[in-house]
Amino acid sequence: MSNIQITKKDNFQHLLSIEGMNKELIIKIFDIAETFLKIGKNDVKKVPLLRGKTVCNLFFENSTRTRTTFEIAAKRLSADVLNLDISSSSQSKGESIIDTINNLIAMSGNIFVIRHPESGMPEYIASNVNKDVHIINAGDGNNSHPTQGLLDAFTIRKYKKDFDGLKIAIIGDIKHSRVARSEMHALSILGVSEIRLVGPKIFMPDDIDQNKFMEFNDMESGISDVDVVMMLRIQKERMQQEIIPSEENYFESFGLTTELMKLAKKNAIVMHPGPINRGVEIQTEVADSAQSVILAQVTFGIAIRMAVMTMLIDKNI
Ligand code: CP
Repeated sequence: MSNIQITKKDNFQHLLSIEGMNKELIIKIFDIAETFLKIGKNDVKKVPLLRGKTVCNLFFENSTRTRTTFEIAAKRLSADVLNLDISSSSQSKGESIIDTINNLIAMSGNIFVIRHPESGMPEYIASNVNKDVHIINAGDGNNSHPTQGLLDAFTIRKYKKDFDGLKIAIIGDIKHSRVARSEMHALSILGVSEIRLVGPKIFMPDDIDQNKFMEFNDMESGISDVDVVMMLRIQKERMQQEIIPSEENYFESFGLTTELMKLAKKNAIVMHPGPINRGVEIQTEVADSAQSVILAQVTFGIAIRMAVMTMLIDKNI
């Protein structure tokens, strides 16, 4: 993709994809997120960095974590927050998405957080609205979910300190997952030594770069000796038809169990972007185990989203 998220003057204007970001920018986001994590532990969790700014959440697809953590992040930065209810908006009367956003810009919207089922929609919006606003991709089709990729890599840094020398397994329906795509870009840019893609052949992307990623089609070898296990759910909503025989059958072959976790390193962590499907891709005992950092990922997501929004607005940071 063209890198319209960084302006000619090196300003960070939009966050559309992890593709096109460099290691320095990602590390800067992480370092700023660290300061916001500390603020999240205070009784008063607010700072005035986005006072007077308006953050508009436009979610054309369901969400629990991303929408609410963007809202909490914006409120902690003292921004005004507008959650447009798409189902009761004038979209149903034929208004185009660009017209909807231009109307919200006329109401002084500054940051637009967009989730859309169509891949490329946030980039299309960024190319067609007023240059002064900021578009953040909160997940588009099976293309990209950059803040999830960032918060996942940030979680790994929190628990493992350094990316060098790590073996990381991304497991499940990689083909249909925007989260996997963003994780793969982030981990490659950050210099992870070994990134494994684990799952049945039908869930493998068509165009795996063999120089960057290793493919495994069985759990035992895929998980053996890894530091980090990143699980994914089956993205049924992005499939044309059912392509696995049954969920029980899938769990038997690719579900993460306590037995399988014994093959990973002793101090390996278990991650999942959510929503988790217990008994399909992950056993309840693993999801709730001491090795699971699934809920920590959610907490870190607030800090990462605060960092991204602050950097988009404040060019001096
Ligand atoms: N991880 C994630 O995108 O979750 P939501 O769909 O709940 O936002």
